[in-house]
Amino acid sequence: MSTSLRQAAIGVLLTADADAKAQAARDLQLRWVAGDIDRQGEDPDMPPRPARPASPQLLSPGAMPKRGRAGSPRARFALLHALAHIELNAVDLAIDMAGRWGAQMPPAFTDDWLRIADEEAQHFALLQELLRASGGRYGDLPAHDGLWESAVATADDLAARLAIVPMVLEARGLDVTPAMIERFESMGDDAAAAVLKRILIDEITHVEAGNRWFRKLCADSLTEPRDRFRELVNRYFKGPVKPPFNDSARLRAGLTTDWYMGLGTAVPASKR
Ligand SMILES: [Fe+2]
Ligand SMILES: [Fe+2]
Repeated sequence: MSTSLRQAAIGVLLTADADAKAQAARDLQLRWVAGDIDRQGEDPDMPPRPARPASPQLLSPGAMPKRGRAGSPRARFALLHALAHIELNAVDLAIDMAGRWGAQMPPAFTDDWLRIADEEAQHFALLQELLRASGGRYGDLPAHDGLWESAVATADDLAARLAIVPMVLEARGLDVTPAMIERFESMGDDAAAAVLKRILIDEITHVEAGNRWFRKLCADSLTEPRDRFRELVNRYFKGPVKPPFNDSARLRAGLTTDWYMGLGTAVPASKR
């Protein structure tokens, strides 16, 4: 009997060790492509939170220590560590997407999110290699807790999950990555710049997939997608969606400015 998609996804989510989780996500993608996974079948409840390694220590965003002087090796390590943490969360978010909703969506949905989980796992592994090359590893510094909050808030609503995770949070990555690439290049750090360039190219496709499935849900329910997107972001996303925007990368992902301009700025997050 082959494993159900739901069971296999839970297996990845409940893998605590970071390198093992990344490897498990890659293995699941291979098993899916090989036809070894049943999209439907047994469907135990999804865990509310993924398992995480004993280190890094998870701190509230306000309690995070300073990264060190800009341009210093310490600041570089801290930035790469923070990015590795985001990528590890992204592995869990993509696996959660497939495990939670794959059975009720067309198979192409699972093709997309397991491919994305595989890419997030590669991003994590590339950053882990950079950390190891500097004599450390993921887990050496504390990390930001709270990246899973939007997953909890949208656990029962696929349209909301797509609107917040790929279309707001991952789209934000498109905005901030080019400046990081330039910084690394200006410091002659070609290894880090190359990893971030690879990540940026892949991330455009993640935002595109989110956008495409969001539009399909809206078409199926005869809802106007842009208005629905803005309504969901205003409801579920705590904080402004702020410029500067990487309009060209967003456009390649199918997001035009009328979707995100002025979003979330009506009420300051502190007043909600
Ligand atoms: Fe990524
Ligand atoms: Fe991504």
